[in-house]
Formats: sequence, structure tokens, C-alpha cells
Amino acid sequence: MTAEYKVLGDVAVITMTNPPVNGLGHSTRIGITDGLAKANSDAAVKSIVLTGAGKAFSGGADIKEFGTPKALQDPNLLSVILALEASPKPIVAAIHSVCMGGGLELAMGCHYRVVSPGTSVALPEVKLGLLPGAGGTQRLPRVLGVETALNMIVSGEAVKSELLASAPGQKLFDKLAASPESVFDEAVEFAKSVAAKGGELPLVRNLPCKHPQGDAYFQFAKNMVGGMSKNYPAPLKCVDAVQAATKMKFDEGMAEERRLFTALMFTPESLSLRHLFMAERAASKIPDVADDTPQRAVKSVGVIGAGTMGGGISMNFLNAGIPVKILEMKQEALDRGVATIKKNYEAQVKKGKLKQDKYDQRMALLTTTLSYDDLKDCDLIIEAVFEELGVKEAVFKELDRVAKPGAILASNTSTLDVDKIAAFTKRPQDVVGMHFFSPANVMKLLEVVRGKATAKDVLATVMAIGKKIKKTSVVSGVCDGFIGNRMIEQYSRQAGFLLDEGATPQQVDKAVEKFGFAMGPFRMGDLAGNDIGWAIRKRRATERADMKYSRTADKLCELGRFGQKTGAGWYDYQAGKRDAIPSQVVLDLIEKHRKDEGITPRKISDEEIVQRLVYALVNEGAHILEDGIASKSGDIDMVYLTGYGFPIFRGGPMHYASQVGLYNVSESMKRFAKNPHDDASFWQPAPLIQKLVAEGKNFS
Ligand code: 3HC
Ligand code: NAI
Repeated sequence: MTAEYKVLGDVAVITMTNPPVNGLGHSTRIGITDGLAKANSDAAVKSIVLTGAGKAFSGGADIKEFGTPKALQDPNLLSVILALEASPKPIVAAIHSVCMGGGLELAMGCHYRVVSPGTSVALPEVKLGLLPGAGGTQRLPRVLGVETALNMIVSGEAVKSELLASAPGQKLFDKLAASPESVFDEAVEFAKSVAAKGGELPLVRNLPCKHPQGDAYFQFAKNMVGGMSKNYPAPLKCVDAVQAATKMKFDEGMAEERRLFTALMFTPESLSLRHLFMAERAASKIPDVADDTPQRAVKSVGVIGAGTMGGGISMNFLNAGIPVKILEMKQEALDRGVATIKKNYEAQVKKGKLKQDKYDQRMALLTTTLSYDDLKDCDLIIEAVFEELGVKEAVFKELDRVAKPGAILASNTSTLDVDKIAAFTKRPQDVVGMHFFSPANVMKLLEVVRGKATAKDVLATVMAIGKKIKKTSVVSGVCDGFIGNRMIEQYSRQAGFLLDEGATPQQVDKAVEKFGFAMGPFRMGDLAGNDIGWAIRKRRATERADMKYSRTADKLCELGRFGQKTGAGWYDYQAGKRDAIPSQVVLDLIEKHRKDEGITPRKISDEEIVQRLVYALVNEGAHILEDGIASKSGDIDMVYLTGYGFPIFRGGPMHYASQVGLYNVSESMKRFAKNPHDDASFWQPAPLIQKLVAEGKNFS
């Protein structure tokens, strides 16, 4: 059992003890009902306090138990709450730190609630594609009013307890404790006083629940919520459930909530969001690096290169209150870089997103230099200079000369071999890749590239730093393109073949955007600059002479159509505008290319487009797992969800493939392998996929 029972005088105390956040798994539920039974059968006990040990009252239902038989085993959360309500002795919840989801539902089943200031209070189920399923949609409107409750349920956002406790007419909290340290003692005193008073015990279920505008208000709410939650069914169902609270008797409303909750539990959207929750946390764990690996202190950061990436990288650390020193070759480059940082912050101040004093604090943490010797005290130095091995060599040799022992030396290279870079130093164990994505101050993804010599404490430190600067960090081994760009190359190749075979850029983009990608491959190419891929292809021409790809992209670049920055790419652009206008020049180019290659165009369905692009990611992702470049399929999903605009509600390429069924995916791959205009060898399903299909398994 993960709940403890003890008696303090005439007060019984039930403490949930299920770290890390007292998730309400089966053993905790049993512990609570067991404690309750003991308290109610002990004549010496006059009242009961329910609380949570450690860093939460409760973070809600145990997400890890979802979909397992344990989730359904009695007592379930509903029956635990019924047992609390039915207790003849008053129960006071002593709430602190985190009170979320099922945890809040549990608290609302108690007769009274004493809360510590600073507690995060939420019904966040919607973020998992669900709605509160243990009375949250029926009880919260009764204690906070329909509108406040609906806002909390539909947004899933946490509200601080002191704000809720001071809301006029609220009945959620009976007392706001003086401090987190005193909340437990205050709850015990509160329990003693209500027991002494006697009288009928209050139940939230008996409170009225109405909205003055009735159905008209809910129609308005549905219009608003429906417009904002296109691909997600849960938010609208939240509105339905709260509406039921205002129209039905309590128990009928509960039944309606349960019906809606159960229907959401196995929607692909909920499965994807739950996968995302777990994968995001799992990404920070590296199989052979223990959680308690000692970390190196990082109190100051050096950044080399004040260009596109160096500036954005610096901002991350300034935002987190860590001093940054930027080094450049020339004063003009430094001035330009600092001006860009200033401009970015000033834009945030103008929009009201950053307070002036914060801006001043951040800029005060920034210093510049032209001399490597000034980096001698930095704990972490990140290089973001030109993408040429020779330039990196010069930089890392200088760093090896000046950096203090134990300083972490990181490269932001996107394509070069981190092991080669590490070998330019006499301390390869201190060298690591920190691959940020552009714009580096905005994009969530950080690929942490582990060289063959990278020390474990360096990895642990960089992962912790990633968390501090609010990135989703994913570890990648060393290979061309790491996880993300290695996969995108296959995706881009398919996009090219599709043009050769009969599709247009706009058809491909539309199909992929309908699937949910933020942007199709051609619009994305125009935004990022088609010349970047062109340069990479030229560099690889000798290394991978046998790699088949469509030459349309090279021909486009030969016309100088690099994308938005040149006013023309796969699409035409009007000056100062970003709208992609289909281009006759491009259509003619593609048609001529087909003729040159002797390809007769055919009609290609949107389904085929999506499958070829997404399954190309999946097959390469499987090879990446086989090669040990990524340690788990969830890591690959995180890369795509946070760095490449893969639709969140589909949970990432590997999760999506598992949802479709790996057998189906592999059959499609075999079909694509027969297409004479495609690359048959690429479409052999990766051995890992074949193995999983044979075993009837999927990636997760
Ligand atoms: N069940 C099981 N484990 C949980 C959990 C939960 N509800 N919430 C968090 N955890 C685990 C995480 O997986 C992580 O585990 P790990 O250390 O092994 O990786 C650990 O707790 C810490 O999580 P965070 O890294 O997120 O820690 P933070 O301190 O930043 O945040 C938190 C804590 C605010 C509780 C945050 O984890 C959170 O928002 N959790 C989700 C809460 C939630 O969605 N609850 C609703 C569940 S659904 C429900 O209750 C259904 C009911 O209505 C029937
Ligand atoms: P950039 O050209 O905008 O900036 C590079 C800066 O480095 C310039 O300001 C230059 O003056 C400076 N520099 C060059 N050699 C130097 C040296 N020896 N000492 C000090 N400063 C020097 O380039 P960008 O785009 O910022 O790229 C930097 C690195 O980041 C490259 O390795 C690139 O592959 C990588 N990267 C780029 C991404 C992008 O989208 N631009 C995304 C992810 C990684």
C-alpha cells in the first residue's frame, strides 16, 4: 500500500506515499480506503486528515496505470471518493504544493479543505486528451462557479491556491494556511474544531450548480472552444460535461461525465498526448547515465560566433539568468550580433511580453570579447561558427588552450562529426554537441550529441542545463544529420520523387498540412532557404554518389530560387509578404524535368503522399534505433514533435506508425519498393520493423 495511517490524539492521518507526485494508483487507492476504514472503526478517532507526502498533495490519477488492468481494479477513484463522502467522521484535506486532476477530485470529495499558499491547483486532464473523470466536471463548478470552473477545465492550466481562496463566494477552500510549513498542523486543528462542533457534514455534491444564461452561455462556450480545438475532441466534451452538471441531478451528471471520459480514453489524440507526456520525461533519462550522476557547475557561458545561432543560443542563457560572454573575430560582427539580441528583446518589451527591468537585467548579463583568453573562466563554451571543419578545428584548438580544466566544450554543428571535433582537443571527454534549432531562442528542441568519448557527467550536466533553459533535450549519437536531419533527408527525397511522378508542390504541401504538419516540405524549404539543402547535397555528392534523388531541387536553386529571401522558390512571393503563390516557372521546370527523365506523370492521391513522407521518417527512424543513435522510439518522436512541426495530436512518427500498425506500415513500404521511380532499396522495411512485425509488437 502506498498510503500511511497514523493517529495523532483523536485525529487520524492518512498520508499518500506514492512518489514522485502521489499518483492515485491502485496501491494508493487501497491505502486510502484502508485508512478510512480503520479511522471509522476506531472510537477514539473523531476526525480525519488526508494529505500527501513529499512534493505534492497529489498529481492525480496514475498516468502510468492508464490502459492497464490495475486502472480498473477496485477500489477505483470514484469509489474512493464515495467512501470519503460517506464517512461519518469529518475529513479535512491538507493540501500543498500540487493538487491536480484526480488529486483535486479527491480533495473535493472531502468535507473540508485547508490549502497552503503557492499550491498549483488544476484539472489538467484536457492536456492528456481527456476530461476529469472522477467528478471534477460536476464538483468544480459547484465550488467555483460555472465560468471559472469551465475555464480551468478547458484550459487545464494551474491556478495558485491563494488566488482561488480569495475569489468571492468560492467554496473550494475552507482555509488558506499561513505557510506551506504550517498547513498540516492547521488542518489538524481545523479537523479538531469541526469534530467538536458536530452537525451535518458538508458535501460538494449538495451545492447548487447553475449559470444565469443557461444553454445560451454553453452555446457561446462551444463556439469559442470549438474554434480553438480543431484536432482535439476533449475540450468540447469538457463543455458538454460541465453543461450536464447544470442540467442534471448530481448522480446523472456523474454518469454523463463517466460516459464522456470513457469515450475519450482510447481516442488517438489522447493516446498521443499521453505518449507525449511520458516520452518528454523519458527523454531526459539516458540508459547508462544514472539519475544521480554528479553534475558540473555551470555559472557562466561562453558563446563563439554572434551570427544567427550564436545570438539565439545566448538569449536562452540570459533568459535563465546565466551570464554570457560572446566571442567574435571582428568588432562589427559582435556589434551586429548584440544589436540583434537587443532588437529581439525590445520587440518582446513592445508587445508587453517582457518587463523593462527584466530586459535590463538580461542585457546586463551579456558581455563581449574578441579574445579567447577572456573565456578562461567559462564553465560551458558553445561554438556556433561557420559550418566548416577547418574553422571548427581552429576554434577548438584555441578552446583547448584557454578553457579551464573541466569546462564543457560544445559545438552547435548541424552536420559535422562531433568525434572529429573532439579530437582537435586533448580533452575529448569534455566535448559534446549541443544542436539548437533556429530560431534558437524560440525552438524547444535541443539535440545533445554524445561523442564516443563524452563523459557521463558532461551529458548529465548538459541535460540539466537544457531543462534550465526550458528545452526538450534528446540525446543523439554521432551520425550524419543526427536524429532529426538524418530522417528529414529521407522525407525530402520522397517529396522530390513525388514531384517527378506527377504531384505539384502545392498538392504535396496541402496533403501534409491536412495531416497536421505546421508546413509542407516545399513551403518549409522556401522559409528555411533552399540553398542550405543544395549546399549539403553538393558536399555529399562525392560521399554518396549512388544515392538516388530528384534533381528538381538543384534545378530550382540553379535558377537562384532560394525561397522567401530571394522572393522566389518553390512558390512566388510578393515583396514583403509570406503568402506562397503557385509558380508557373516551377511547374514548367518540373514538367521539363519529367520529360528529360522519361517519366509519364500520374495522378497521386493525398493518402499516398502522406504515407510516403511519413513512412520515410519511420523507416529511417527504425534504422536510427538499430544503429543506437537514439535509445528509444519516444526520443525520435520528441525530436519531431518539438523540432519539425510533426502534429502533436499524432504523437510523433514512431507513435503514429505504432497506431497504424507496423504490419500495415511495412506492407505499404513493400508496395513503395516496387515503384520504379522511387528508391527500392530504401523501402525495404528496416530489420527492426520486420522483427517487431514478426513478434506482433510495435515501437513502444
Ligand atoms: N501519474 C504518474 N506519474 C506522474 C503523474 C501522474 N499523474 N504526474 C507526474 N508524474 C511523474 C512524471 O512521470 C515524472 O516521473 P519521472 O520522474 O519518473 O520521470 C515525475 O512525476 C515528475 O514529473 P515532472 O517532471 O513533470 O515534475 P514537475 O515537478 O515539473 O511537475 C506535475 C509535477 C505538476 C505534477 C506534473 O508532472 C504534471 O503536470 N503532471 C500531470 C498531472 C496530470 O495530468 N494529472 C491528471 C491525471 S489524469 C486524472 O487525474 C484522471 C482523473 O480525472 C480520473
Ligand atoms: P552565421 O553565419 O549566421 O554565423 C556564424 C558566425 O560565426 C558569424 O558571425 C561569424 O563572424 C562567426 N565566426 C566565424 N568564424 C569564427 C571564428 N573563427 N571565431 C569567432 N567567430 C567566428 O551561421 P549560423 O547560421 O549561426 O551557424 C552557426 C553554426 O550553427 C553552424 O555550425 C551551423 O551548421 C549551425 N546551425 C545552424 C542552424 C541554422 O538554422 N542556421 C541550425 C542549427 C545549427
